[in-house]
Amino acid sequence: MTRTQWRNEIEKVLISESEIARRVTELALEIEKEYSGRDLVVVALLNGTVLFLADLIRQLSLPLRLDFIGVSSYGAGTESGNLVFTKELRLDVKGRDVLLVDDILDTGRTLTRVKAKLKKLKPRRIKICVLLDKPSRREESVTPDYVGFTIPNEFVVGYGLDFAERYRNLPYIGVLRQHNKPAPKKKKSARK
Ligand code: PRP
Repeated sequence: MTRTQWRNEIEKVLISESEIARRVTELALEIEKEYSGRDLVVVALLNGTVLFLADLIRQLSLPLRLDFIGVSSYGAGTESGNLVFTKELRLDVKGRDVLLVDDILDTGRTLTRVKAKLKKLKPRRIKICVLLDKPSRREESVTPDYVGFTIPNEFVVGYGLDFAERYRNLPYIGVLRQHNKPAPKKKKSARK
């Protein structure tokens, strides 16, 4: 898809490529300071995190380990928020510092579930890093330790975030035009 086509579907750029790059560098510096000398395991939540994760970890000069948890809020068409784990963690995190990385913190259901699941594996500590935080949508009490950007309740796509699995490869965070947005009460509108 060309950038011209995107312009027809994206109402506005909420966070530009350069703003993302700058902020990711700042986050990486903070994280590096915190985990210097620690046994860090970065656990990223699939799928939306991939772009953010790739940009973030290549700026971390730390001997980290990387693993993924696949989790998706299936139960589409409802707001039940049923989570399905599509990939389990493989690395041993016992006694280690875990940094959970996700693209967006919305209701907080996903990170609450994932954190509870990880806790059972007895890591030394779990911290949370999200690119985007939408506090106005919170239903579960989750406090992220690192936040790229706090955003209003807009339906955002790009830089990993999708609508119906599209737009993940947009290099910026954009707001979808009205006619492309999901109908009310569908799962995706509830989330982003
Ligand atoms: C998105 C996003 C977060 C979650 C946030 O995942 O990546 O993991 O929703 O929402 P919550 O705070 O309300 O739980 P999604 O299930 O859409 O999967 P994806 O990453 O593959 O897009």
